[in-house]
Amino acid sequence: MFFPMKLRVPQVYLLLFFLLIVHFDALTLTQKSDKSSALVPAIIVFGDSIVDPGNNNVINTLVKCDFPPYGIDFVDQMPTGRFCDGRIPSDLIASKLGVKELLPAYLDPNLEPQDLLTGVSFASGGAGYDPITSETAHVISMDDQLELYKEYQEKLRAIGGDAIAENIISKGLHVICVGSDDIANTYFPTLFRKLQYDIPSYADLVVNYASRFFQELIKLGARKIGIVGIPPIGCVPSQRTLAGGLFRECAPFHNQLAELVNSKLNQEIQRLGSIYQGTLLVYINIYDTLLDIIQNPDKYDFEVATNGCCGTGLLEVSILCNSLTSFVCANVSDHVFWDSYHPTERAYQILVDVAIDDVLPLIIS
Ligand SMILES: *[C@@H]1O[C@H](CO)[C@@H](O)[C@H](O)[C@H]1NC(C)=O
Repeated sequence: MFFPMKLRVPQVYLLLFFLLIVHFDALTLTQKSDKSSALVPAIIVFGDSIVDPGNNNVINTLVKCDFPPYGIDFVDQMPTGRFCDGRIPSDLIASKLGVKELLPAYLDPNLEPQDLLTGVSFASGGAGYDPITSETAHVISMDDQLELYKEYQEKLRAIGGDAIAENIISKGLHVICVGSDDIANTYFPTLFRKLQYDIPSYADLVVNYASRFFQELIKLGARKIGIVGIPPIGCVPSQRTLAGGLFRECAPFHNQLAELVNSKLNQEIQRLGSIYQGTLLVYINIYDTLLDIIQNPDKYDFEVATNGCCGTGLLEVSILCNSLTSFVCANVSDHVFWDSYHPTERAYQILVDVAIDDVLPLIIS
């Protein structure tokens, strides 16, 4: 008993030291984009508008934002189809892990073959785990995003050969960020699901679809998968306006459903992790951080947390937030929300800085 104990102490220190070094690297190599300093070979993203860098620009949907004032804080103030004033979380993660400064949309017509080697986003604003959500919005469903991923894998093999493609797929960081629109666009405002499902059973439906998606991704060779939970969607400006009553409080049932999906999602992720040995799945919590920012804006140097910056900030999002009808607030950086649904780049940056700690286990292995 005595001996092993004595041996274990230095090992613990060694491990701690190692974790600290990796943590340090992850947080400091942010500005570099040369491949040698990257912590993963590629970032591959699926989901909705939180991580869509412009896939919706080339599809036939109303869920678009490739016009001003979107992109007002982006390079050359260019509207790119990102639902933000500046960069979105997929960009910020790619940048933080030293992969590249911007993560492009897979459907971007200007994409070069070389761009594929460090990753892309297949995400589509308006998509949901629930297929009805994507269908209603006429956007790229999660199933269709998987089809695009298959096509991408073929392209990787053609460009880099089998070995390089395998390395990108098995070592690349896969991030999934979707689910808010199931709550905000499908469950509460329509009758597609509400008549048949109460809140707990709809949470089960969403998590069942989510689990199916993760397992398809594993079948396609993904081994490092980070799953972003749902934000406190009841507290975004448009949901306060639509479902928060006279005083525009956070819509309580929206948040209740978000929390329920998150806890079931987390359980399912643990379960899948134990079934699929050799595959790392982690749950990335953004709910608590965003709620804290919204409830304590001062702490983070924000002035406005209940209205978006675009227009009145009560309802404007996507085509309703445009330069013809909407003025932009005086200081974007003092707003938590850019439009009535999506955080500003500055708020996203805070969320990603916190969330990256959840991602670290995927990087150090
Ligand atoms: C804009 O807001 C940010 C964050 O609150 C603050 O640091 C900055 O000083 C503000 N800029 C102006 C011009 O007021």
